[in-house]
Amino acid sequence: MIFRPDNGITPLTDSFGRVHKNLRISVTDRCNIRCFYCMPESVEFLPHQEILTFEEISKIVRVVAAAGVDRIRITGGEPLVRSQIHRLIEMIREIDGIVDIAITTNAILLQDQAQQLKDAGLDRLNISLDTLDPKRFQQIARRKGLEKVLRGIDRAQEVGFKDIRINTVALAGITDSEIVPLAHFAREKNLTLRFIEFMPLDGDQAWEGDQVINGENIRRVIASQVGALLPNETAHRSQPSVDFHYADGRGIVGFINSVTSPFCAACDRLRITADGRLRNCLFGTEEWNLINPMRNGCSDQSLLESIRLGISKKKAGHGTDDVQFQRPHRAMYQIGG
Ligand code: 5AD
Ligand code: SF4
Repeated sequence: MIFRPDNGITPLTDSFGRVHKNLRISVTDRCNIRCFYCMPESVEFLPHQEILTFEEISKIVRVVAAAGVDRIRITGGEPLVRSQIHRLIEMIREIDGIVDIAITTNAILLQDQAQQLKDAGLDRLNISLDTLDPKRFQQIARRKGLEKVLRGIDRAQEVGFKDIRINTVALAGITDSEIVPLAHFAREKNLTLRFIEFMPLDGDQAWEGDQVINGENIRRVIASQVGALLPNETAHRSQPSVDFHYADGRGIVGFINSVTSPFCAACDRLRITADGRLRNCLFGTEEWNLINPMRNGCSDQSLLESIRLGISKKKAGHGTDDVQFQRPHRAMYQIGG
């Protein structure tokens, strides 16, 4: 299958008319830290043979790219713990139709890999960072590592990554006092800061609504204590973040208010888990097995049909505020965010 705007392949449209152009690929469920909002303390990871190979991932990307997917995000677990991950970036880079490749990382290993990733053709980096305090980092991640993360950010900027985004999960009672220092830090370093509301996807299943800090409240704190904010009109319509720029022109801050203000209506995302299951929603309870058919030698056409089936079952919204809401059986580290 070769991508051409006129190749006759129907776009990946769901029953609500949402066209899917964005694929998030989890390349491993492993991680070198243990953020409590994502993973349990002790975990049994997937055996290596059950994880998609780079060739299998590339095949999926080729097939969906022919149907109009043009943006790829590599996630985990922690993607940089997967051996030779820059090789996968190189492989995806070669696929017709892909215009943007990004990665979401905790940056612990970034200092060592930034150059390789840049050379492989990675376009963008999102870095998870919730605190600038080493003790609090350890409290959240259950491991040390803040120094390495900060060195990783510096290195990424040195090798030429632009538009680096910091993802911050705001946690009531834990990181309230981090909001203002993180905002200053991001402005000084020319990084875009994004606050994400804590979602019920923690491995311990201990999430409580009162641990969520409403993004709207964070916005108010920043506007009054860091700098006046103006809405950013240039943002991509399907992106979940509502972005603002500082009135003085120095920096951007965004809010992913997934709990208090779901953005499902514009969702154009598909997800593949490390063990090769298609998910049509972060909070979905259904999955479509792609790895078995691929290992049985299925054609590109039938792989695309399985993917279309998953998309056709996509619901209008995640319904976390619904009394009927059922938590997905996978936690964040098994989906990839
Ligand atoms: N709620 C919100 N964000 C989360 N992340 C991980 N777990 C959760 C959760 N339960 C974030 C990580 C990373 C991104 C993939 O998702 O910090 O930045
Ligand atoms: Fe690892 Fe990311 Fe999950 Fe933290 S949020 S445990 S860094 S996969």
